[in-house]
Amino acid sequence: MRTFVLRARAAPTDGKTLLASVGSEVHVEILAHALMNAIFVAQSHRPDVVIYLVLESTPDYSRTIRFEADVMRDIGGFDERALLGRIARALDASAGMGKEETRAVEAGVSVQTISFERLVQRLAADHALYVMDRKGLPIHEQVFDENPCFLLTDHIPMPKNTLRGLERLGAKKLTLGSRMLFASQCIVLIHHELDRR
Ligand SMILES: C[S@@+](CC[C@H](N)C(=O)[O-])C[C@H]1O[C@@H](n2cnc3c(N)ncnc32)[C@H](O)[C@@H]1O
Repeated sequence: MRTFVLRARAAPTDGKTLLASVGSEVHVEILAHALMNAIFVAQSHRPDVVIYLVLESTPDYSRTIRFEADVMRDIGGFDERALLGRIARALDASAGMGKEETRAVEAGVSVQTISFERLVQRLAADHALYVMDRKGLPIHEQVFDENPCFLLTDHIPMPKNTLRGLERLGAKKLTLGSRMLFASQCIVLIHHELDRR
């Protein structure tokens, strides 16, 4: 299983606000592009892929939306509006949830009121964690086991204390080169690297 976690620090946890912020400096398109490139290929979806989108601009709890490619049904297209619509639907379904609850939204999609830190602590139990960072080990030098989990951010960098916490969980930094890429472009290159092995 390939797992991706996108920490979207600027993304609102209210569905209507999310949709209304398209085109603004919040850059919610990052969520749609990451979802698209993690899960879809032309005329199909990728097997054995999970992506977590962690939305953190919130008055209460972060919302972590989990998409599992093998279980998802038709999501009504893969244009940005359709993808953001799916994300907004999961946010709407999370209304009124208490801390660290989970709710099913639709086939292959669930939403949790769990923070990025708690999520990665849980994932660390059965995944090898990799923080995508331009100063890491070149990805082609890394040997992967069966359950790699790649950690990415939106346009706001990972805080230094989070990076220290990730290190304590055994996370390794991996680079895709010196050029700063979008998270969604990193996802494409990670898939490519794993596909060609
Ligand atoms: C647009 S970048 C984040 C930009 C942010 N201002 C920063 O300084 O980290 C989005 C994500 O892609 C990762 N990323 C971008 N280029 C990369 C590269 N060449 N190698 C590895 N990860 C990369 C970043 O680490 C981040 O998780």
